[in-house]
Order: sequence, then structure tokens, then C-alpha cells
Amino acid sequence: MQPILRPQNPHFSSGPTKKRPGWSLQHLNTASLGRSHRSSYGVGRIRHLIALTRDLLEIPDDYYVGIIPGSCTGAMEAALWSLLGPLPVDLVAFDVFGHLWVHDVLRELQLQDIHLIDTIPGFLPDLSLVKPTHDLVFTWNGTTTGITVPNGNWINSNRKGLVICDAISALFATSFPWHKMDAVAFSWQKAIGGEAAHGMLVLSPRAVERLKTYTPPWPLPRLFRLTHEGQFSKEIFEGMTINTPSFLCIEDCIDALSWGISIGGLPALIARSKANLSVVEEWVDDTPWIEFLAHDAYSRSSTSICLRFTEAPKDWELPMAIAKLLEEEGVAFDILGHTRSVPHLRLWGGPTIETSDLKALLPWITWAHKKIT
Ligand SMILES: Cc1ncc(COP(=O)(O)O)c(C=O)c1O
Repeated sequence: MQPILRPQNPHFSSGPTKKRPGWSLQHLNTASLGRSHRSSYGVGRIRHLIALTRDLLEIPDDYYVGIIPGSCTGAMEAALWSLLGPLPVDLVAFDVFGHLWVHDVLRELQLQDIHLIDTIPGFLPDLSLVKPTHDLVFTWNGTTTGITVPNGNWINSNRKGLVICDAISALFATSFPWHKMDAVAFSWQKAIGGEAAHGMLVLSPRAVERLKTYTPPWPLPRLFRLTHEGQFSKEIFEGMTINTPSFLCIEDCIDALSWGISIGGLPALIARSKANLSVVEEWVDDTPWIEFLAHDAYSRSSTSICLRFTEAPKDWELPMAIAKLLEEEGVAFDILGHTRSVPHLRLWGGPTIETSDLKALLPWITWAHKKIT
């Protein structure tokens, strides 16, 4: 029987993800629109966004927080191209994006002393292979596999090397060991439900020290330069963005961050995402034909929840048909997994998603599965 109850909101995309509950364009401050990003008002709004980010994500006071062009990709590129080179590099990869960073370091930067630590889909690689004397590049949450590192315990606190982390699908939905991180990239389009546009880069004092003492041998486009004539460009992290940002996106992000703070900050956001994973876990436990792409429960993501069909794990046909049918029914948009990963459905479970909506969606997947198979 076709379920009667529908999700109130059918947005389950893994990026850009659903807006916060109660979001409306009318709530955005428009006083900055049409103003210069170098005006004191404009810089004030950028600084306000940075302060809210620091507050909500509980970033240490001595870390630098800046807006970078090019979304998470831009922030990650700025980090990789500015910081890597002097030490061997461990590359930990377990999803499509992790392998894109591997490509950059291997093929574009052409670094020689590289240690690739990866694995087959569904598993975390052997993290004990990571060496504290090497720089480390990894993606915290694999958006395209639904696999996440469970914590930062595997990262040595007294590292010589820097830790460069793509944290886009994890931040705002997980507690994050900032003191073990040196360069963290993300953007606004994931767990906090902001607009896609700009990236954010968070740098530790050790990363800044590397910028001050090391100049990469390759040319660096201005968009990704974090130094000027050998000096650290501190002003980027004080609201003077490299180029012109969109104030519409900035105001939207301020709205999203303010919502996060208003409902109780990071613990509340994490609890919402965990509750979302829990309802899916209960359903998967009771449903013989579906399983998590993540083999081990401890590495299951609560944001990008990836599920595959036990009867045809290597076949895209079934997930494609189910995603199409549910979109036509208007109950779930954008739940087909990333097509460069293995076949799966992907339900976003970040904190902007209402658990009641996810709960309402699951019987629809059961219904669609029965109808199609
Ligand atoms: C793990 C990961 N890294 C990087 C990106 C790229 O993000 P952006 O489009 O904000 O640059 C994504 C986007 O989905 C992602 O999931």
C-alpha cells in the first residue's frame, strides 16, 4: 500500500542540503547587498560570519578562520598547494573526493614521497599506517560512501607533519578535534544548509608557521595565495577576502549559523544528526533487502547515509528507479548516490533535516522497492 504520510519537506540532497527549519528569504539581512565588501559595514558582516563560525564550531582562539574563493574545493586547493612539499605525505582516501585530492597531490603537484592509504568501498583504510613524521591529507566524512572516521584518536597529538582535512560533510554534525588539525576546509552548502559559493579555511598556528617558512616551488594562482611577498596574509582571516564574495551567500550563512546557535549550538546539531541516523538504522535492521554501504557501524556517517540493495549491490538500475519514482511522487528529491561511487541511495541526515521527515520517507522507499522489484 502506498504510504499516506509524506515528508513535510522532500529535500534530502547531500549538497546543497536542505535549508534550516523555518528558513525564508525574508529572514535574510539585505542591508549588505549592493555594498562594497571593503566597506566597514561589509567587512563587519564578514567578521560577524567568521565569529559565528568560530563560536558554533568551537574553534580554538589561536586558529585562523577565513573565507576563500571556490567553495570547499577552493579552500582545499589553497591548503594543498600552499602547504605541501617539504615532508613526505600520507594520503588517506575512502571516497570519490578523497581520491580527487590524491590526484592533485600525485598528478598535479607531482610530489614524489607519497604514501597512499586507501581501500575498497565500504571500509575505512588502515589508519595505523599514518606516520606522525609525514604530512597527512584526508577527508573526514566520505560523502560518496557514507563512511566517516569515528574520531581523531588515530592522529598523533605530537605530530611533526601537518594535518590537512576536507571536513565539509562532517562539520556541524560531529565533534571535531581541532587541536589535531592544521588546515581544515569546508563550505556552507552541507550540514549547516547554507548556499554553495565560498569556502572556508581554518589554519592552526603550525600551518601558519609553515606558510611563513616555506615557499612552494610551483606557481600559485592569486585565488589560492595565502602569503604575499613571503609574509602570511593574515588579513584574509580578518575579513579582507581575496576577492569579492557574495553578500547574499554571506547573509544566508549568517542566518544558518545563528539558527545553529539558537537551538543549542554544536551539541544540539550533533544530536539532530544522530537521531536521523538512528531512525535509518532501525529501519535497516528490520529490512532484509537493504544495508549500509559502510560495513562497520563505527564508521557509519550520520550525514551522508549511503544504502545499497543486497539483491543487486553492483547494479545502478534499482537505486535509479527508486530515486526517480520517489522524486515523481514528490516525497524525496536527489537521493541517488554519487554516480562515481558504487550503486546506492543516499539520504542526507545532517542537522537541518527533520527526523520526522526521514521517518516518513522510509516507508516510501519500502513501497517503491516493492513496486519496482
Ligand atoms: C567530501 C567532499 N569534498 C569536497 C566537496 C566539494 O565541495 P564544494 O562543491 O563545496 O567545493 C564535496 C562536495 O560534495 C564533498 O562531499
